[in-house]
Amino acid sequence: MEKTIDENKQGNTLVMEPKQENSRKLFIESYGCAMNFSDSEIVASILAKEGFNTTQKLEEADLVLVNTCSIREKAEQTVRKRLEKYNAVKKINPGMKVGVLGCMAERLKEKFLEEEKIVDLVVGPDAYKDLPNLINEVEAGRDAINVLLSKEETYGDIIPVRAAENNISAFISIMRGCNNMCSYCIVPYVRGRERSRDPQTILNETQLLAKECFKEITLLGQNVNSYNWEHKENKTNFSKLLDEAASKNPSLRFRFATSHPKDLSDEIIKTMAKHPNICKHIHLPVQSGSSKILKKMNRKYSREWYIDRIDAIKKHLPDAEITTDIMTGFCSETEEDHQETLSLMEYVQYDYAYMFKYSERPGTKAARVMDDDVPEETKKRRLNEIIDLQTKISEKNKLKTIGKSFDVLIEGTSKKSEDEHFGRNSQNQVVVFPKDDEKTGDIVKVKIDKTTPATLIGKKVQF
Ligand code: 5AD
Ligand code: SF4
Repeated sequence: MEKTIDENKQGNTLVMEPKQENSRKLFIESYGCAMNFSDSEIVASILAKEGFNTTQKLEEADLVLVNTCSIREKAEQTVRKRLEKYNAVKKINPGMKVGVLGCMAERLKEKFLEEEKIVDLVVGPDAYKDLPNLINEVEAGRDAINVLLSKEETYGDIIPVRAAENNISAFISIMRGCNNMCSYCIVPYVRGRERSRDPQTILNETQLLAKECFKEITLLGQNVNSYNWEHKENKTNFSKLLDEAASKNPSLRFRFATSHPKDLSDEIIKTMAKHPNICKHIHLPVQSGSSKILKKMNRKYSREWYIDRIDAIKKHLPDAEITTDIMTGFCSETEEDHQETLSLMEYVQYDYAYMFKYSERPGTKAARVMDDDVPEETKKRRLNEIIDLQTKISEKNKLKTIGKSFDVLIEGTSKKSEDEHFGRNSQNQVVVFPKDDEKTGDIVKVKIDKTTPATLIGKKVQF
């Protein structure tokens, strides 16, 4: 069986507290990364002002929006299946309008209106403020499309609505776009140039969330650690932003994603070490362990540079969890290159990895000038070898937690048992333990006594 991760997972439907009676009903779901989920909260906020309430029932929606991902072909196939489903519902509810948002909207533009007859509305990631006008167009019987990319739009002036079922953890997008131009990647084409949001608007949002009793914030960006704001006297890089956010909000814990290895400075690592309320987890996509392949990918670091960053993390943050993305079968990857990836995995001992086969994306540099020359069978075999090794490493790392105690933020009730809480430790590991007198949102100390491949299981201990 082919083993790939995450592309088939269900979309996230956003539901917020109903604000108005007799409002129009919006069904909005997102696929792909957390940035998309965060964008859906911005879209819901823009549309709440137009009288839209969110609904979880597709069948009763006046407007259906799907926030899409283009990063791999499989992600797009999942969205196409959802469009078929909307099409079926539209037959029962012909007044329903359907819009495609995000990366796939940006990539396919008017093709969506021409080919996918079900779609009424196509909106790229920088055009969400135009949604009220576009919806008017649709209601007047015209097709509506806005896929203009912007060099400035950060939605910094919009306070997102927060999903009703989760008042514990929230996302804040702090920058958008990507300038890196990794040769395999479609993101710079569909998300545009990199731009950072005014730090004051970010800090205001963190303080608002603290007041609303949220407990955890994840700062998001395609390349979060290249965050950089320069305006007159004010110069704020990612490390400074993180430092200020953590100092000003002792009641919140902070996470961030996704970091690029080339921008992971010692300063950021030391800031993480300085603040107990910055979670000790770094997601650091490596892609390949071969310097030759990294160069072809235009990753702007070598195997040695990456190892140096890992050594710095292990020195300053010895308990940190390190996770990664690995892509196998990129153009011209040899068996030797593949072995270098495996040996790097052995060196780092990742706690978790998202693992993919390379798939060519139209318009990227790799698609234009490189040969996708690793046979599909070889890609599959290499991917399976990578997954098998990672499974062993993850299991071994999990076993090391037995007997240790962690501060766990309770996020809710375990799916398997009403009598157990589930939460996460600072390292982002899922922890399950029997309920006592604590409640969701509390942080409690839990001692681990056994593990499963995905979960740590333990008991509460006194602080
Ligand atoms: N093919 C396969 N995987 C890809 N990724 C990005 N582009 C591609 C592609 N063309 C993976 C990378 C990235 C993650 C988000 O998706 O590993 O880090
Ligand atoms: Fe794509 Fe590279 Fe930017 Fe990540 S850093 S979004 S892989 S171009």
